[in-house]
Amino acid sequence: VKSSFGSEEPPHLPTLPLIGSLLSLRSQHPPHVLFKELQKKYGQTYSLMMGSHRVVIVNQHVHAKEILLKKGKIFAGRPRTVTTDILTRDGKDIAFGDYSPAWRFHRKIVHGALCMFGEGSATIERMICAEAQSLCSTVSEAASLGLALDLAPELTRAVTNVVCSLCFNSSYARGDPEFEDMLRYSQGIVDTVAKDSLVDIFPWLQIFPNADLRLLKLCVSVRDKLLQKKYEEHKADYSDNVQRDLLDALLRAKRSAENNNTADVDTATAGLSDDHLLMTVGDIFGAGVETTTTVLKWAVTYLIHHPDVQRRIQDELDTKIGADRSPRLRDRGSLPYLEATIREVLRIRPVAPLFIPHVALSDASIGDFKVKKGTRVIINLWSLHHDEKEWSNPEHFDPGRFLDSEGTGLTIPSSSYLPFGTGIRVCLGEALAKMELFLFLSWILQRFTLSVPPDHSLPSLEGKFGVVLQPVKYKVKATPRPGWERAKSQMC
Ligand code: HEM
Repeated sequence: VKSSFGSEEPPHLPTLPLIGSLLSLRSQHPPHVLFKELQKKYGQTYSLMMGSHRVVIVNQHVHAKEILLKKGKIFAGRPRTVTTDILTRDGKDIAFGDYSPAWRFHRKIVHGALCMFGEGSATIERMICAEAQSLCSTVSEAASLGLALDLAPELTRAVTNVVCSLCFNSSYARGDPEFEDMLRYSQGIVDTVAKDSLVDIFPWLQIFPNADLRLLKLCVSVRDKLLQKKYEEHKADYSDNVQRDLLDALLRAKRSAENNNTADVDTATAGLSDDHLLMTVGDIFGAGVETTTTVLKWAVTYLIHHPDVQRRIQDELDTKIGADRSPRLRDRGSLPYLEATIREVLRIRPVAPLFIPHVALSDASIGDFKVKKGTRVIINLWSLHHDEKEWSNPEHFDPGRFLDSEGTGLTIPSSSYLPFGTGIRVCLGEALAKMELFLFLSWILQRFTLSVPPDHSLPSLEGKFGVVLQPVKYKVKATPRPGWERAKSQMC
């Protein structure tokens, strides 16, 4: 009879004192690809040592779902690392905060605030459409001058503005110095935080000069100044009767918790310091911008590689919407091929291929394997989304996999598909991200056909790996579609 804590140790990579399994992890491949490769030698679930930390790597969906769903609470912890502690004032946010009553309370408030702007309400749709309009004007201007355009900064700007409207009820025009600052600090953070840098594996390395840590601290201090300014402005004209944005929702929750003296709320209040509030907003910014922008960039990259897919989406748009009006959220149900394309982009290039690490909060098991309290668990979404047993020809881009046999309805053909995670740590912004992906892509493809300029080669599909997996930089030629030649004048 097997014990409920599992009977076997997971297969283990060779380990040396102090450095752990580092020697076996040297590779020219990014970690998600290496971890997938290592399955051949160690099986789908195996363990290794990162410095002094035991880490279990999971490469298959049955174990992933056991961790995220069946034993979600046991595996809901997050590790503390040097870089994320700098970013989040020692884990006082949602994404990197450890499982606790304060964390649960925060998640509930943010979830509530995002629902308020959710599909039932027109507010978020208005915010996204305003940004889609401005994005299409920029593309149209470049097209009318015969210029190819790097779409990446334009997409970043559009998505950042949606999150700004959501968090602060404000958005920025192109070139606004505060906005440019924000883009710069975000990039600095993306470039330096949580990329398994040596200082996260060996915290004692902090005592030596470290350029990445210096840059991270500088960017975090710029971000904090901006967050503080927005916080002071919101406190100054806060009213219980109006909820303009996420910051108002957090302020209201803090005030009502402070006015309430039950023991339960006391625990939660302990987690609603100014620090917690600011870090939570910072988190939504951090988690909401880079991820969605990167998926949009991958979508454009794959559409350029697959003009047939682009044409089929445009046929669908022409038939179901036409050229007299712009797409709305309510059109989602009638554009299955576009939805299938978005699903396929999220499968083939998952932006967070290793999720955020989870931590076992007590002794537990994964399948037959014993897992000790404190063990870090990395779910390799890359392996799940590229599992040959689950997906035929997984490197082939084929939106048709997500359509039923008639080709008109949507399906999810495998359980090995978790682009937003699942369970109690599931992505908080899933609904928002899906709305943005749908509206931005439908607006662009209704108006333009995307390609590379004649003398340019197709952009690489390999990508480069940081906190998220990103496509390389390249320029796009946008050709206005028939009926939208005068798009610029119609949009302004
Ligand atoms: C966590 C994916 C957009 C907020 C996550 C996780 C994934 C993910 C895989 C980790 C789940 C885990 O660790 O088990 C994505 C993708 C996005 C996206 C693919 C875009 C297409 C957003 C947006 C927001 C957001 C727009 C905010 C409005 C968060 C937060 C967490 C999270 C706060 C941490 C949740 C927690 O630890 O409790 N996301 N995300 N994400 N995401 Fe997203």
